[in-house]
Amino acid sequence: MTILVTGGRGHVGRSVTRKLLAAGETVRVGTSDPTDTSLSRDAEVVELDLSRPQTLSAALRGVQRVFLYADPSTVDQQIEAMELAGVDHVTLLSTRSLTFRDADSNPIARLHVAVERALGQSRLPWSFLRAGTFATNTLQWARLIRSDNTVRAPYPQSHAAAVHEDDIADVATLTLTQRGHAGAAYVMSGPESNTQREQVSLIGKAIGREIEFEEIEPETYRQTLSRWGGGREEVINQLLTYLVTWNERPVPVVDALQQLTGRPGRPYAQWAVDHADDFR
Ligand SMILES: NC(=O)c1ccc[n+]([C@@H]2O[C@H](COP(=O)([O-])OP(=O)(O)OC[C@H]3O[C@@H](n4cnc5c(N)ncnc54)[C@H](OP(=O)(O)O)[C@@H]3O)[C@@H](O)[C@H]2O)c1
Repeated sequence: MTILVTGGRGHVGRSVTRKLLAAGETVRVGTSDPTDTSLSRDAEVVELDLSRPQTLSAALRGVQRVFLYADPSTVDQQIEAMELAGVDHVTLLSTRSLTFRDADSNPIARLHVAVERALGQSRLPWSFLRAGTFATNTLQWARLIRSDNTVRAPYPQSHAAAVHEDDIADVATLTLTQRGHAGAAYVMSGPESNTQREQVSLIGKAIGREIEFEEIEPETYRQTLSRWGGGREEVINQLLTYLVTWNERPVPVVDALQQLTGRPGRPYAQWAVDHADDFR
């Protein structure tokens, strides 16, 4: 069985690739940059950009299962190509934000709702991974930690139950390699809620020195957030809204990994140790 992993250079895509290979599966990695030499040599690597669906038919040849990033712009063509190729399971990387009350006014949630809805109406069996805030988002602090040993951000007491990419990949691997996950939507967070100040302190512990936290105005933070969502203002506004919403308010934990495997998700402290070299 061949499994196509889209978004192959992403943190989640790389981890899903590693875990599927470790499970003995044949993996094809689809990426917008197949020349990237850091991609696994144990998997076939092909060019794939979901916003250019003409790259899909070659990438899907002989593929039974797909780990899919959400790109609503071409979702109908994606579904048609997967149905035509005989794909028998799609696991979608979705977002927890569509489970919150304000989902209708959240541009990040709307984007994923469009893809979930299209898959739901298709003939393809699917699983949705509705992941909460990725721990890898805090890599946005890495450059400043390396240069100034400082994080400059607003709302030091704002919470996230940040989820480790390896936990998302563990659940993705289950859905792609075992029966019984078709039609399931798994909501995932990390196993605990931490404030930004706590996260910075845990990164400091992982690299063996104390890091300064300098509180700045939310408007000044826009620059740091501009790498997300193609720098679109509505996405940056939403990211700032999250910081306000969860200020001094722990994020409820939903540990799908624990429910599925009996093993708790990896805490942020573990993530910081795993990524210590990124901050040194
Ligand atoms: N960040 C979060 O907190 C969070 C939480 C829940 C859900 N999500 C969702 O997870 C996805 C990835 O988020 P991320 O950037 O934070 O994580 P990431 O795992 O680091 O993913 C980045 C990779 O996504 C791939 N990608 C981006 N746009 C794509 C597209 N239209 N079609 C196919 N692949 C695409 C690219 O892979 P290649 O370079 O190999 O082409 C890129 O390198 C997004 O859909 C996001 O909305 C994010």
